Amino acid sequence: MTNSTTLQQAFAACSAVLQQNRQYWQLVPFACQQLPWDNPALAAKLLALPEHDLASIDQSPALQQQHFGELFSGLFQLEYHLDAAVSMLAAGELKPVPFWLANGIGGRKMAQITAFSGQIPASNLPLLEWCAGKGHLGRLLAWQFQRPVTSIEWQQQLCADGSALASQFDIPQRFVHADVLTPQGSAVLAPQQQVVALHACGQLHIELLRQATRKGCQQVHLVPCCYHLIAEQYYQPLSALAQQDDLTLNQHDLKLAVQGQVTAGARIAKLRHTEVQWRLAYQALRAALTGDNRYRPLSSVGKHWFSADFADFARWAADQHQLTLPAAPDWQRYLAIGAEHAALVTRIELVRHLFRRPLELWLVLDRALYLQQHGYQVQMQAFCDYQVTPRNLLLQAIRQN
Ligand SMILES: C[S@@+](CC[C@H](N)C(=O)[O-])C[C@H]1O[C@@H](n2cnc3c(N)ncnc32)[C@H](O)[C@@H]1O
Repeated sequence: MTNSTTLQQAFAACSAVLQQNRQYWQLVPFACQQLPWDNPALAAKLLALPEHDLASIDQSPALQQQHFGELFSGLFQLEYHLDAAVSMLAAGELKPVPFWLANGIGGRKMAQITAFSGQIPASNLPLLEWCAGKGHLGRLLAWQFQRPVTSIEWQQQLCADGSALASQFDIPQRFVHADVLTPQGSAVLAPQQQVVALHACGQLHIELLRQATRKGCQQVHLVPCCYHLIAEQYYQPLSALAQQDDLTLNQHDLKLAVQGQVTAGARIAKLRHTEVQWRLAYQALRAALTGDNRYRPLSSVGKHWFSADFADFARWAADQHQLTLPAAPDWQRYLAIGAEHAALVTRIELVRHLFRRPLELWLVLDRALYLQQHGYQVQMQAFCDYQVTPRNLLLQAIRQN
């Protein structure tokens, strides 16, 4: 188990790095028209980087360190504290999963489930799966350990699909169709329970932590994700240490924690690149029409938009901003401005992304410290390789009697 001093030291180290370098990550790159830092060495470095190297540096911690290690030495020394707090444990022995049981589960999800299952300690406690989706994890745990599982999920169709799979294979898995954010949903939690939650989004896992500590659930095994999907505009720290910390995080800041991308295929990478260029091209068009240069965000849209026509995207965006476009704007001119602006924004994001992992660790350590504060022994570990899922931090908490 990771001791409390180790977790506190790791938290303090993350916090110091994040605070000392606020200006490099607590900003909106799309709103910048030039490099927003007075740092000539960094500017020279960024402007010298060839366009085609940016994506590979962004995705490789080794290349990030190679290019930025000297400029941000404190950041890269953080690893020392984190290695002590984040362990990579050997997985327990598991029965090989037969093909009929794995049918319909994607390759990456299956790898996550297998790695997660290998870390669950043997127990006779009833198992509860929080925000289960179709309950793939719960179904495999029930089969693997021959134990009944209750899976709670909000979408009725997913409950129905999951129940059908469980009965087809005669697996003791029961679904509760409920909203975990309501008293009716959290009523499934009980003291004598081993609770598992794989990729439960922001407010959903925060509620799990609050309710599980209140009810005294025996064990909680949680892989958090989507830290920015919270009820409030600003993050409300959970642990006493984080509450005293001088870090205020809004939802945009929180989103940085999930911006790590597992190497995408060439097609997806190209669509992402087009998306940045088109959003910025629209921004230039809007500024020209309204005289307002301030950045105004747009909602997310499916990637398929970016293999279609820019004019359609610009009309959709203008509609969001209640703006009427002229019949035939000079699309090519704005696309060229967008492409040039994108080259700048990508470089700013390259720097901002250096702080993604410290921020995610700060958030997960806040959850770990909160559990410790409530009498749990806590372990934090990378339960699978980053390439299997970038959300690979697992918190395991066992209540001390
Ligand atoms: C990111 S998915 C994870 C699903 C599954 N655990 C997995 O790893 O594949 C989050 C799940 O939470 C469910 N969910 C969202 N809001 C919920 C709520 N308020 N109560 C219960 N489940 C909810 C979603 O329908 C979705 O199935």
